[in-house]
Amino acid sequence: MTSILPHGGTLIQRVAEGAQREQLLQQASGLKSIAINTWTISDLDLIGVGAFSPLTGFMNEADYTSVVHKMRLADGTVWSIPITLAVTDEVASSLSIGDQVSLVGEGDGVVYALLDIESIYSVEQATEAQNVFKTVDPAHPGVSKLLARPATYVGGPITVLNRPQPEKFGEFYFDPAETRRIFAEKGWRTVVGFQTRNPVHRAHEYIQKSAMEIVDALFLNPLVGETKSDDVPANVRMKSYLALLENYYPANRTFLGVFPAAMRYAGPREAIFHAMVRKNYGCTHFIVGRDHAGVGDYYGTYEAQEIFSNFTAEELGITPLFFEHSFFCIKCGNMASSKTCPHPADQHLTLSGTKVRGLLRAGECPPPEFTRPEVARILIEGMAQEVTAES
Ligand code: ADX
Repeated sequence: MTSILPHGGTLIQRVAEGAQREQLLQQASGLKSIAINTWTISDLDLIGVGAFSPLTGFMNEADYTSVVHKMRLADGTVWSIPITLAVTDEVASSLSIGDQVSLVGEGDGVVYALLDIESIYSVEQATEAQNVFKTVDPAHPGVSKLLARPATYVGGPITVLNRPQPEKFGEFYFDPAETRRIFAEKGWRTVVGFQTRNPVHRAHEYIQKSAMEIVDALFLNPLVGETKSDDVPANVRMKSYLALLENYYPANRTFLGVFPAAMRYAGPREAIFHAMVRKNYGCTHFIVGRDHAGVGDYYGTYEAQEIFSNFTAEELGITPLFFEHSFFCIKCGNMASSKTCPHPADQHLTLSGTKVRGLLRAGECPPPEFTRPEVARILIEGMAQEVTAES
């Protein structure tokens, strides 16, 4: 069975193994090093295993500039989010183009990779923020992360030598080559990818299952890298996904695997990025609902869907499936959206994130029309543990 082509045509593999790895590790000990944080380690690893295909490393100036201004790599391939390595001026001044350096975890001293420097460049952070996040407001979590980094970037291909080890739920980490193999073994010709940074509530379940009516399977692919502090922690979410799948999804048509990337909160541009990455994992379809990857009021409700019209179906390669804001309608007695329900808003059960968090913190389950009780119980337990940990 032929599976969907990775973005750019080839699944990038830049993880060294065996004798080559041993030799490069030895080589690394004599090189200058750049300290990298957990965010960069996760980007690095995702480049290494091909989740960010066709990227082979951190972006050089030509790719970066083209991505920021045109949502394309310098060769024209669709790419919407800069994947960059920022260094202080002090570090930059010690580096030259053509140098090979090691990338070392700032917290653990592990040599994660080698980088062959092909480009050293300064950027206008405000331009990057405006183009990528559509705002320069430092209150935006993506912009604040960007502004906290130095404005000099180093680009070039990487070779991964050590991989970050998950502390928990390691059995749900699959590289794109593995998910592709697994989907093929299961005989799935069409797989819809679902991105989430939240527990799966009934609205999420509704759009997933609507999609499942027309494809072979669902790849539930929650993002478990860095998120903002008021998002539900990944470990609690993982427990909730397992409970949900066990109780409400057909095991032979669903697959759970994590996406260990950091959340950018870049709304529309991140939706394109999320879709390209899921194509690399072997998905043929990708769900984009309301305010995908949004935060606050920075993006219009359907902007993350509209942005797809900038590209042709051929250059995207993966088919986006768009869903309107979904809710439980009391009068209909089921889940619906404005596309399927004629009743006024007062018949629709919609709860804000703040309201739901308030209920869960108080140990109360939101209505079952909003969240499955099995999920709510896990979230309540998770919140109680958070409170204990804080006090
Ligand atoms: S996201 O930042 O990962 O996009 P979230 O986990 O809330 O946030 O959303 C996961 C996916 O479900 C996104 O595609 C989002 O647009 C969609 N979604 C979330 N809530 C709804 C809803 N009530 N109706 C329709 N789509 C939704």
